[in-house]
Amino acid sequence: MHRRVSSTATTAILLFGILVFSLLPEFASCMTRHYTFNIVQHNVTRLCTTKSIISVNGKFPGPRLIAREGDQVLVKVVNNVMNNVTIHWHGVRQLRSGWADGPAYVTQCPIQTGQSYTYNFTITGQRGTLFWHAHISWLRATLYGPIIILPRQNESYPFRKPYKEVPIIFGEWWNVDPEAVINQALQTGGGPNVSDAYTINGLPGPLYNCSSKDTFKLKVKPGKTYMLRLINAAMNDELFFSIANHNVTIVEADAVYVKPFVTSVVFITPGQTTNVLLKTKPYYPNATFLMAARPYFTGQGTFDNSTVAGFLEYEHPLHISFDKNKTIFKPSLPPINATGVVANFTKMFRSLNSPKYTANVPQTVDKQFFFTVGLGSSPCPQNATCQGPNGTKFAASVNNVSFALPTTALLQAYFSKNSYGIYTTDFPSNPPNPFNYTGSPPNNTQVSNGTRVVVLPFNTSVELVLQDTSILGAESHPLHLHGFNFFVVGEGFGNYDPYKDPANFNLVDPVERNTIGVPSGGWVAIRFLADNPGVWFMHCHFDVHTSWGLRMAWIVLDGQLPSQKLPPPPSDLPKC
Ligand code: C2O
Repeated sequence: MHRRVSSTATTAILLFGILVFSLLPEFASCMTRHYTFNIVQHNVTRLCTTKSIISVNGKFPGPRLIAREGDQVLVKVVNNVMNNVTIHWHGVRQLRSGWADGPAYVTQCPIQTGQSYTYNFTITGQRGTLFWHAHISWLRATLYGPIIILPRQNESYPFRKPYKEVPIIFGEWWNVDPEAVINQALQTGGGPNVSDAYTINGLPGPLYNCSSKDTFKLKVKPGKTYMLRLINAAMNDELFFSIANHNVTIVEADAVYVKPFVTSVVFITPGQTTNVLLKTKPYYPNATFLMAARPYFTGQGTFDNSTVAGFLEYEHPLHISFDKNKTIFKPSLPPINATGVVANFTKMFRSLNSPKYTANVPQTVDKQFFFTVGLGSSPCPQNATCQGPNGTKFAASVNNVSFALPTTALLQAYFSKNSYGIYTTDFPSNPPNPFNYTGSPPNNTQVSNGTRVVVLPFNTSVELVLQDTSILGAESHPLHLHGFNFFVVGEGFGNYDPYKDPANFNLVDPVERNTIGVPSGGWVAIRFLADNPGVWFMHCHFDVHTSWGLRMAWIVLDGQLPSQKLPPPPSDLPKC
């Protein structure tokens, strides 16, 4: 009798357990992941040059951050170097966790030497690849690494599970200290020295002097599908990437699934990430295939016109080595200024927009903004000589405002209702002096300076047109928005026409991302829903342009409900 009762009770508990688990699968499978990022100096040699770099845990590129959708992530960042440091989780939506976003003087004061700060955020509604990087000055040149977001435990990809997944992270290498490069440029007003090499997973590859041993090798088996998680962590350059004799299928962009499409060349801007499937050949080819990347550039200044390469190698299971003089196939990459290739490639991206992964494109718009983005100049200080355009200093702006970072964090000022003398809320919604943006540039190229922001009520539906200017040369600008994904509803060359162009907007399945290249000499229209309270940075992901002021911030106010409010700052938030 006793046994019977007990076994019935056990069965009941078991059944209840199964019920709870099956009703709340996401609850059951979510977890908290802890990471410690020690910011340290360590020596690295590339191109026969040894230098001390700033890294996380002595790794270059930095460690992978892996989480599942729905997981909470806690990263304790300990600063053991002389520089001030912050880390940004690029593309992570940071829903109501703006204090963990990371841009210095926007959402936080930097972590000072000997101090630490624990970034605390939850990955919500995202799956794919993102990356983390330092967000102060040019420290991200060596402080970066992948963020890998796996589907929930009981969910799969909307495509066949790949045999293996490999992060491929592009970077830029300077033989000198990148901090010295940008500091000198800001001092003289001239363009900064360009990098000495591009890298794949930190390695420049065989096309540079003294670099053959530093080559990334992707060893594969025949007849398998590999997923490459591509990340452009380069500082100032958009890249074309291709693998000789192989096509890839794009399946995801900025941690959102897209309608798959096949391509032989990938174009990727700094700040963008994309997952591609690589199907290997069904047999052992007696050959090595180069995978290579080199820049796309249409500007007027100098740039690093070099090519990074790695090897795709087929490994024989019996380790039969074919003759040592294997053929090496090289990919063909588009010309440096192949604007048409870039435009055609960009237009291929469409949200997957399946019943499960819908594209929630705002169909109506509460507020419209029109921002010019481009270069400009600032006067040379008295008694100085400057190396920028016509003896001035280079600058860059949004609606002619070159954004000045405050000396305290905007989010703290906003939260404590203490904005006086720190920022103003009068960022222009339209260009202050309209001109023919892509025609012959005006004579006066001088920018204004200010810490001006746009304030948006909670849940405002925003349409923003970003218009490149030809001032000091038309150029593509990879614009990145913190705190949101946006939908890319339209783009074109020349000046945006508010009467004609909206008719061609895609409001059904536009791609959803966090970084989009404003076409060189053109415009792009994006829409997003301001459903995340906080202060959100938006800037060109070319660090040189960000440093020159091509940046601004949005303040999204709290909503009515408790779940629509920004919580108070964590107690360990760094002080300025
Ligand atoms: Cu990846 Cu504000 O940047």
